[in-house]
Amino acid sequence: MKTLYEVMDGSGEDEKRLRKAGEILKAGGLVAFPTETVYGLGGDALNPESSRRIYAAKGRPSDNPLIVHICRFSDLERIAWDPDGRAALIARAFWPGPLTMILKKKDTVPMETTGGLSTVAVRFPSHPAAQGLIAAAGGFVAAPSANTSGKPSPTSARYVAEDMDGRIDMILDGGDVGIGLESTILDLTEDEPMILRPGYVTQEMLEEVLGRVSVDRTILDAASDRRPKAPGMKYRHYAPKGELAVVEGEPGRVTLRINELCQKAAAEGKKTGVIAADETAPLYLADSVKSVGSRADEEAIAHSLYRILREFDDEGVEVMYSEAFPSKGMGQAIMNRLLKAAGHHVIEA
Ligand code: TXA
Ligand code: MG
Repeated sequence: MKTLYEVMDGSGEDEKRLRKAGEILKAGGLVAFPTETVYGLGGDALNPESSRRIYAAKGRPSDNPLIVHICRFSDLERIAWDPDGRAALIARAFWPGPLTMILKKKDTVPMETTGGLSTVAVRFPSHPAAQGLIAAAGGFVAAPSANTSGKPSPTSARYVAEDMDGRIDMILDGGDVGIGLESTILDLTEDEPMILRPGYVTQEMLEEVLGRVSVDRTILDAASDRRPKAPGMKYRHYAPKGELAVVEGEPGRVTLRINELCQKAAAEGKKTGVIAADETAPLYLADSVKSVGSRADEEAIAHSLYRILREFDDEGVEVMYSEAFPSKGMGQAIMNRLLKAAGHHVIEA
């Protein structure tokens, strides 16, 4: 399949590009597009055949449900139930934006889209190109992150093309994404709301609207043998090709330990890489040292993490060590993705 590549340039032509992309989706095809979190791989959410194609293009297990993206508040009730009004409250507070809700689904949504579940994940993204595309496609676009299953989610169209060229109909290039980590997933199907995947919208922010909100215990707990409630969280996602470990402890000792580990790997002839904050990056001796941004700047760290993991792949780095970052606020999402990328391999300095 030849993949069309369209660059959104802010001109009057963008309208035409979105219309063309919308036609492709309506006809059952697949279009990758930017959102404020990461690039999505879109298909018509109400067409079971489109959902099957999404799973095939990503190489994703079909028991891993897709998020349905909408572009109008009123469309929520066409696909999901909100028996107690909590969904409306959350929508008003955080939509459009990086927040996905799990709700009981209505019959309009095919089981192919929800991976066989009777619940559906719904999100109203804030990115204008995403909204334009969803509207042009008829209002309901199923979109997982636009990466091959097991790779970091793409934060720019270049990485989408790396994974998806020849496998989908079109890539809409809207430049680099803003946030860089996937949306927060909030389960509203039980009495107590629960975060199934941490993201930009934090537990504290949700608690201001809903009162008590819990976090799925499996998220930061490597030892947990329970199944996470979001089926996708059980897979070893975001995995770089090389081996990655996170080194925790008092900062000075972390630096010493990482340098020691890199030296050892280098002696074995391996290419080494380090992920560090701006403040400590100059202290490392490795083949490739990547700075994620200032330690206090969670947004910068979130923004660069996936790009760095992909860069290490491109450079053929075989052994990687990362500093641990503070897990407050959005830091919880950062550590969740980093630990998953490392297969929960943690070393105490
Ligand atoms: O920011 C995002 O959410 C991006 C952009 C493209 O919107 N999308 C995204 O989709 O990250 P994906 O498919 O890569 O991740 C969706 C996650 C998976 O872990 C999946 O298991 C979970 O959401 N999920 C979807 N539907 C669910 C449901 N009904 N119940 C529980 N978890 C669900
Ligand atoms: Mg994904």
